Amino acid sequence: VSRGIAAGIRHYCKNTPTKLRVSQALSGAELGSNIKVQGWVRSVRAQKANVFLHVNDGSSLQSLQVVASSELSDPLLTFGSAVEVTGILKKSPHQKQPVELDAKQINVVGECNPSDMALSIFANFLISGAEQMLLDNGFVEINTPIITSNDCEGAGELFQVEPSGPDYADGENFFSVPAYLTVSGQLHLEVVSGAFSKVYTFGPTFRAENSQSRRHLAEFYMVEAEISFTQSLEDLTKVMEDMFRFATEHVLAHCVEDVDLFHKHVTPGHREYLVSFLRITYREAIDILRRSSERFAFPTDWGCDLKTEHEKYLVKHCGNIPVFVTDYPYDLKPFYARDNQDHPERTAAAVDLLVPGVGELCGGSLREERLNLLSARLEEAGLEDVYSWYLDLRRFGSVPHGGFGLGFERYLQCILGVDNIKDVVPFPRFSHSCLL
Ligand code: 4AD
Repeated sequence: VSRGIAAGIRHYCKNTPTKLRVSQALSGAELGSNIKVQGWVRSVRAQKANVFLHVNDGSSLQSLQVVASSELSDPLLTFGSAVEVTGILKKSPHQKQPVELDAKQINVVGECNPSDMALSIFANFLISGAEQMLLDNGFVEINTPIITSNDCEGAGELFQVEPSGPDYADGENFFSVPAYLTVSGQLHLEVVSGAFSKVYTFGPTFRAENSQSRRHLAEFYMVEAEISFTQSLEDLTKVMEDMFRFATEHVLAHCVEDVDLFHKHVTPGHREYLVSFLRITYREAIDILRRSSERFAFPTDWGCDLKTEHEKYLVKHCGNIPVFVTDYPYDLKPFYARDNQDHPERTAAAVDLLVPGVGELCGGSLREERLNLLSARLEEAGLEDVYSWYLDLRRFGSVPHGGFGLGFERYLQCILGVDNIKDVVPFPRFSHSCLL
């Protein structure tokens, strides 16, 4: 009887897989053993007879290669899914990896919707492309504050920040001045551009826009750049164009499969049209709109703000490629935009980039560096005291400069051809919606 029990135990032990971390499996110490690993799929490649996976559980930078016969393949085996793999650890025939797991059983423990994963990976490549372009060109990254006392855009779409808790029950103001979540890091970037010349920031911005539109969020990310010694709007436009082109090409080079999951604007044949650009003035844009037979809901007279319907029409009219619109009426742009004094119509040295599927993606301008013009404009708006520190920037070592801000979620929306901006972020924030 005892011999029988011992044989049973031996049999059980031989057939019960040893649970290993990926790092332990990779060490090769358990070669020839029946093992089990648990982790997440980092890649899946199917061939006729076999399917190859890379599985990682965070214990090593390297992933474990798993080879399984195609009968074990499962549509739920996608990038990012969580799996339990049992099999025999073998020496790998390939030099790059010491061992591989010859799978006898694969259980998908947690499914992973590939399009959600693709979106996050895509977003990562897009921002790293934009940042690489800026860093390669000598920009210094700055973290601008999230809490601020200024309304950079002067549009009054601010979320006020107030402390809560028993210490503040009597309504005491924490900062002694009204404080808000930032709508743009621009003014802080302007401060530091006076030290580093070329600076950028990538961070969250907040707008209390009571809009249910397909391209507005209450919380969104912006890539903002500021460049000292910029003399012309064309120089600034060129930086915007180069960044857009570089980041778009970067993401297409690395995420073709992810793009295929979504693609609308960016199929291989369409690539060129996201990397060629047209430039028109606001005056030309108005002329195009007024000549069109389209019935717009909003007016198209000189001085009117370009609405989404106008922007989308202009992009289509120009061949569905990105379009830079320059030299907007002075009164349409915020106080910091530079006055184009040589234009017969009063315009600002401001530029917006309009793109397929979205309309405005990026807004930029030369900044008014002339103290007299800037203070006159601030005075007109009753803001001279609030922005006295901003006027000081023009008093001490001011130089011609300009910058821009690109809405990151709109960029994703455009490149992936996603209709609604709320579908490109995991936790969209908009009016009446702040779940989770
Ligand atoms: O045109 P905006 O308001 O420009 C600024 O904030 C400047 N201070 C930026 C700068 O020059 N540093 O916003 C810039 C971009 C827009 O073109 C748009 O893409 C995006 O930010 N954006 C929004 N994206 C999503 N939801 C919203 N509510 C947005 N408002 C603006």
